[in-house]
Amino acid sequence: MYNISSLSALLLALLSIVSAYRPVQFVKHTGESGRADQAFSLVNYYNETTQQSDLYVRMWAFRYASSAKGWASLALGPQMKGALMFITYGDPASNTLTLTVRTVDGHHPPRPIPEMKDFYSGEVPTVDVVSTRFEEYTGQFYQEKLQAKPSHLGVAEFIVRGYDKWTACELGVHNDTTKQSMIWSSNFKQDFGGDFSAERGIDMHQFGLGFGFLWADLKNALSPVAFFGPINDMESHKGVNEIGDPLVPTTEELDAGENLISQHKDALGGGSTSDSDKSTSDSDKEVSDGTDKSGADNGSKVEEPVKTVKQFNIRSLMWHIHGFLMTLSFLVLYPLGVYFLRSPRATAFNLHWTINSLSSVSVSVGALIGFVNSRSISIWHQYLGILIICALAVQTVLGWRHHVIYISPHGGRRTWMGAVHVWLGRVVLPMAMLNVASGLLLRQYGWLTVSLTVALAAVELIVLTLVVGRARTRRPAATQKAVPIGADEAEEYFQLAGDDDDEFSDSDAEGAAGDGERVNKNAEREEQAKRLAKLDKV
Ligand SMILES: *[C@@H]1O[C@H](CO)[C@@H](O)[C@H](O)[C@H]1NC(C)=O
Ligand SMILES: *[C@@H]1O[C@H](CO)[C@@H](O)[C@H](O)[C@H]1NC(C)=O
Ligand SMILES: *[C@@H]1O[C@H](CO)[C@@H](O)[C@H](O)[C@H]1NC(C)=O
Repeated sequence: MYNISSLSALLLALLSIVSAYRPVQFVKHTGESGRADQAFSLVNYYNETTQQSDLYVRMWAFRYASSAKGWASLALGPQMKGALMFITYGDPASNTLTLTVRTVDGHHPPRPIPEMKDFYSGEVPTVDVVSTRFEEYTGQFYQEKLQAKPSHLGVAEFIVRGYDKWTACELGVHNDTTKQSMIWSSNFKQDFGGDFSAERGIDMHQFGLGFGFLWADLKNALSPVAFFGPINDMESHKGVNEIGDPLVPTTEELDAGENLISQHKDALGGGSTSDSDKSTSDSDKEVSDGTDKSGADNGSKVEEPVKTVKQFNIRSLMWHIHGFLMTLSFLVLYPLGVYFLRSPRATAFNLHWTINSLSSVSVSVGALIGFVNSRSISIWHQYLGILIICALAVQTVLGWRHHVIYISPHGGRRTWMGAVHVWLGRVVLPMAMLNVASGLLLRQYGWLTVSLTVALAAVELIVLTLVVGRARTRRPAATQKAVPIGADEAEEYFQLAGDDDDEFSDSDAEGAAGDGERVNKNAEREEQAKRLAKLDKV
């Protein structure tokens, strides 16, 4: 079942992996570890025409009670010095929202980039502001402290063309990194006195928790179509992390990305994109590339809401099957197979190999599903899984070869293969159980499910250890002695049938004495067939 061709099929599956788009969003309502009321989404788009990477940024500032005070900011770079900053401020009452692009040479108020020529004279990405506006907040977020929902969203949508050309900040900006350093900051108090011009001075960010660091996964934010990513402010960060490297994309995140891209491709194909729709804040507008503006736009088009991740999808079903097969095999079948081998019943050995073969078939199918369903091999659940599959392939071969030699005319003895089979089994089973738990974690099962699974696995391992120990003491020392080569049939028959697992005994290969190897293969095979037939009657 684990032959060369299926292994090479798996390798092919490994090679055909394509990177997929994971939507990136940062969401921070005040009180969520920091004094901030902002959110943003990022889409990384490579424009083939200009041969450069563009960053599509949608930025939200949550405003309460129609306040015209304060500003919100995000920036590319690990610290203020040299960061490429995007700052918004404005007044919901007059629907003015300003987006200003700034930098600074130290920890003081940033200035528009043209004023900072002495500090930085390198390339400056072009920022195309597609839209800045205030919208009434229609979302679900309720701020406990203020006993209110936000009243408005300050929305800025802009494209940073060639964003990775900015070199003023430490570590630079890279279009293919999974951990682009960024910072955010907020101020709620500054009264702009009606002056929302792009050059006006701004006060410092809120003292204390009004700023923070984050790392954004831009590599996986690469989309084949250009658009401003959606923001769901009832969900938390995706593709960004405030305390370290962003996690690898989950299947749900990639599925959501796939859905978004197909929606935007459909929209482009249909030629009916609208740039001025009064869509809900959750929707995401298509960015026209100038080829699809034929459709008349009367502002009535309402965007389809972003499909939820919970919808039925084949990939998700496949993961469930993968998980089911693996759990069944490693938590039920294999332990049962080991248990039966150690049981005193006559059919012990037959039960062992039948059940374990069945489990191996189930694991093979599960693994194949896992490979086909995976978009990349990049996490330790996958590495460990591959290792376990290889070990099980070795187990199958070892177990079978040992058995064949054991029942051969010169057999009846322990082989190194038997010993390795036993020890490899003892290592692989706990590892596989661990991997079942890690799979549950990956699918974001609750801690209760995961800890119950781990507890069950631990109990099984303890029981198996006890059963093996008892089986060993139960067997009189006499049977531990090496079986003489060429033992007569009756004795061997008795041993195989009655004394069960001597075949996979753990004692060191005392029986390795006498290395007389097979003389006549044909005769041996005949013998073997006879013996197997006899065994089956047992
Ligand atoms: C990054 O930019 C280079 C060209 O500078 C381009 O070849 C590559 O495809 C881009 N990668 C991503 C992930 O956008
Ligand atoms: C790509 O760049 C070209 C040239 O600047 C521009 O006309 C086009 O709109 C860009 N495409 C997108 C999707 O932004
Ligand atoms: C706007 O266009 C849609 C079709 O695109 C049409 O059904 C609708 O009647 C139009 N509304 C107005 C006000 O023109």
